[in-house]
Amino acid sequence: MAKPVAIEVYNPNGKYRVVSTKPMPGTRWINLLVDQGCRVEICHLKKTILSVEDIIDLIGDKCDGVIGQLTEDWGETLFSALSKAGGKAFSNMAVGYNNVDVEAANKYGIAVGNTPGVLTETTAELAASLSLAAARRIVEADEFMRGGLYEGWLPHLFVGNLLKGQTVGVIGAGRIGSAYARMMVEGFKMNLIYFDLYQSTRLEKFVTAYGQFLKANGEQPVTWKRASSMEEVLRKADLISLHPVLDKTTYHLVNKERLAMMKKEAILVNCSRGPVIDEAALVEHLKENPMFRVGLDVFEEEPFMKPGLADMKNAIVVPHIASASKWTREGMATLAALNVLGRVKGYPIWHDPNRVDPFLNENASPPNASPSIVNSKALGLPVSKL
Ligand code: GLV
Repeated sequence: MAKPVAIEVYNPNGKYRVVSTKPMPGTRWINLLVDQGCRVEICHLKKTILSVEDIIDLIGDKCDGVIGQLTEDWGETLFSALSKAGGKAFSNMAVGYNNVDVEAANKYGIAVGNTPGVLTETTAELAASLSLAAARRIVEADEFMRGGLYEGWLPHLFVGNLLKGQTVGVIGAGRIGSAYARMMVEGFKMNLIYFDLYQSTRLEKFVTAYGQFLKANGEQPVTWKRASSMEEVLRKADLISLHPVLDKTTYHLVNKERLAMMKKEAILVNCSRGPVIDEAALVEHLKENPMFRVGLDVFEEEPFMKPGLADMKNAIVVPHIASASKWTREGMATLAALNVLGRVKGYPIWHDPNRVDPFLNENASPPNASPSIVNSKALGLPVSKL
């Protein structure tokens, strides 16, 4: 069994042992597990990133399922340990699962959960915040003010970019990319150019309708374009936000050559995964182009930044907080717990992982299903008919 140190236990006599490698926001997730017969163990170890060895200790000899974090390395070693302990499920408390070797999980028949459908708007809102903060130089201006440097209004003081009428470029127009695009188009009347392997018909229809609305009101209409290449977006957009999934094809998607294609005064925002940008090349680009600005939520080798980045006034950096709204984080904890619970209890897999509202309604019991299991097909798990 897990070491007694730093472990908080709920429902000690529960039939199924479920471990959470971190305390998670809210209490609903704990109650849902306890109500369905789980003993819940929460690790309070004062160490931000748990090692594989730490997690092996937590899994112990008997463990039915684990809820873990995107900072952990879920590969062969951990899935083998979980399988030996009788485990059936692991869920990341995250939508991204590039920290998980799904092939290894398949090998041991372990279901892998993630938490889509609850962090779309929250993440898009942070991307929008970074866009505005970079365009209007808010962090630099705040430092200036706090530093006692403000001596009075000046015509040139912290002049930034007007977004209205400029072009927002979105690379990866899935759920989060599309939500961000809508915010920037509707909120700031920007034109849209996007690149995605799939056409985003809904997004296109939205921009068309909004453009017609503006025109009918005597305003300049907004426009959209689906670019034929990522390079086209980089060349044409004034503000670019990255929303791809991280895999072999998107590693260093934004490199030295592609940075050079962007406008000298462009703004680049990344709330996806750090390795999508070659961060060392970005630091050089920021040094050589003081009017180029960047807003970063993610870094290539978290928790570290590449040398020089922290000194750049034209960079805004925040510590991977894109999904950090109370509602979203509590929802993520609930979905992760229900992913594990569903497999432990033998429930089917929810039919649409992007429509998870029934699991988030605090006034009703959630459906008897795992909301989102990424390897359900590979494991041949049944899908809910609800
Ligand atoms: C956060 O980065 C997530 O993938 O949920």
